[in-house]
Amino acid sequence: SAREPLKVMISGAPASGKGTQCEMIVEKYGLVHISTGDLLRAEVSSGSEIGTKAKEYMDSGRLVPDEIVTEMVIARLSRQDAKEKGWLLDGFPRSAAQAQSLERLKIRPDTFIILDVPDEILIDRCVGRRLDPLTGKIYHLKNFPPESEEISARLITRSDDTEEKVKSRLETYKKNAQVIFSTYTDLITKVDGNRPKDVIFEEINSLLQRIYEGNLVPMKGI
Ligand code: AP5
Repeated sequence: SAREPLKVMISGAPASGKGTQCEMIVEKYGLVHISTGDLLRAEVSSGSEIGTKAKEYMDSGRLVPDEIVTEMVIARLSRQDAKEKGWLLDGFPRSAAQAQSLERLKIRPDTFIILDVPDEILIDRCVGRRLDPLTGKIYHLKNFPPESEEISARLITRSDDTEEKVKSRLETYKKNAQVIFSTYTDLITKVDGNRPKDVIFEEINSLLQRIYEGNLVPMKGI
């Protein structure tokens, strides 16, 4: 019988592993991955008007103004593929206003996952992070080193991954977390993100499996 596609939100401090888990979730469930960080970085590197505006906020670890980000996300959520395949929202909502915009449109997830990682681990994860601009894959110099010399040679660092900037991103996260969580109280699952990534994924996977099994489209009649 038919099942509704999954709708998932994933939240957590900077470098808590959202992007890493999203790679694995997308591979298994085929959801449309909507990462506001990735969308904004694409705007910055294309040199668009939005990108130019967003850059100064991102570089100082502050939130990009709500209107810019909310419009981007709602446009992406409205596309056919997101409706058909389901979606995975990564890094949104990140403020009370953003959460309210979704509530007004009656856009709610099936589940709201929070990756929980101690502060002292987060700094090291950011400073050691490297990205492959060709595949978009996320690496870490110690934890997940690149598979070959060729990949290693093309890896890049994010300009907001210095210790100082990570600290202000973390502060921004903490300032906003409670009010966002209170919008989704009944949907929250907290996951210990300070474990090997496959162990974390196993827990997320069984949660999503359970929800998907229950997502039966109601039958007409009876
Ligand atoms: P965004 O890109 O969303 O950054 P973030 O929330 O700080 O999260 P990160 O991307 O840094 O980390 P992650 O949790 O994805 O971790 P990852 O998997 O890479 O936002 C950037 C900026 O954009 C914001 O500061 C803001 O200015 C702006 N912005 C974005 N959304 C916005 C919004 N809604 N409103 C306004 N402004 C917005 O992992 C990190 C590292 O750890 C990697 O090296 C990885 O290999 C390693 N790692 C991952 N998992 C593990 C594990 N289990 N064990 C060991 N190492 C691990």
